[in-house]
Formats: sequence, C-alpha cells, structure tokens
Amino acid sequence: MSDSVSFAATDKPGRYAELGPQIAALVDGEPDLIANLANATAAIAACLPAASWVGFYLMRGDELVLGPFQGKVACVRIRLGKGVCGTAAAERRTLIVPDVDAFRGHIACDAGSRSEIVVPILRDGRVVAVLDLDSYDLAAFDDDDARGLAPIAETLSSLAW
Ligand code: SME
Repeated sequence: MSDSVSFAATDKPGRYAELGPQIAALVDGEPDLIANLANATAAIAACLPAASWVGFYLMRGDELVLGPFQGKVACVRIRLGKGVCGTAAAERRTLIVPDVDAFRGHIACDAGSRSEIVVPILRDGRVVAVLDLDSYDLAAFDDDDARGLAPIAETLSSLAW
C-alpha cells in the first residue's frame, strides 16, 4: 500500500473519484479506528485545498466528541441538535452551509470559518460519527462535495466503530 495520496484531476468530481479508492486502500486491512480516521482526514484535506478544517466528531452517548482532525484546535463536545454537526447528526442527513453566519446556532470553533459541510456516518441506521469540513471561503461546498463524500462515508461506516 502506498503511504501517500495524490490527485491528477483539477475538478472536484474528478478529485473525489480519485479520493474514494485511495481512502479505501488506506483503511483496507487496518482494524484500528483512530488510525483509519486520522489517515482519512489527511487524505480528504490533501484532496480539498479549500478546506481549512477536516475532521470527525464521534457519537458518544448523546453528544458528539472531537475525533481525529486536520486543522486548528476545535470545540471538543457538541450536543445532538446543536450547531451544524449536531443538527446533521440529529437529522441524519448531510448539511451544506454556504454561509455559516446564516445558520442559526452555528458553533464557531474558528472565527475565520465561512462555510461548512457535515456528512453523518451511519452504521446499521445509527449515527456513529459526523465528518465535518470547514472553509475560509464562502460557499466552498456544494452538491459535488455531498456526492463526493457520500461514498467515503459509506466506506468509513464499515470501520470498527
Ligand atoms: N461549526 C461546527 C462546529 C465544529 S467546528 O466547525 C470544527 C458546528 O456548528 O457544529
């Protein structure tokens, strides 16, 4: 297995198409959840230069707790239904937030963040974590990201949660 990721495409759908198999290869045969999530964050961050923060919040009881990430120090605990992460987890759906200032209850871990996407990871119908991406650019994430991240969330749902 290669220990690095690379991308030839310059368009987002193309880059996601290259990212999926590389994440699958990174986690293949490795049972450790933290190691796999850590490498996934590095691979996603390498794929998406517009992302200022890429990380996981893990479902622990009735709240989300910070997991592996790339970026600045972040909020540690988010209650279900709170912020973009807690809302995506509670509603079990991907949330694209083009302007975080327009999202009531957005939790600003980094005052520089302007937009965000949160993708829940479901295992047997249960939310086990959310994947959170932030950007310093307004409207950095769109349906291409939701479509690109969905199969990655699917791959990660089979990890040792
Ligand atoms: N903005 C998120 C909090 C997590 S940070 O972006 C890393 C939210 O509103 O849930």
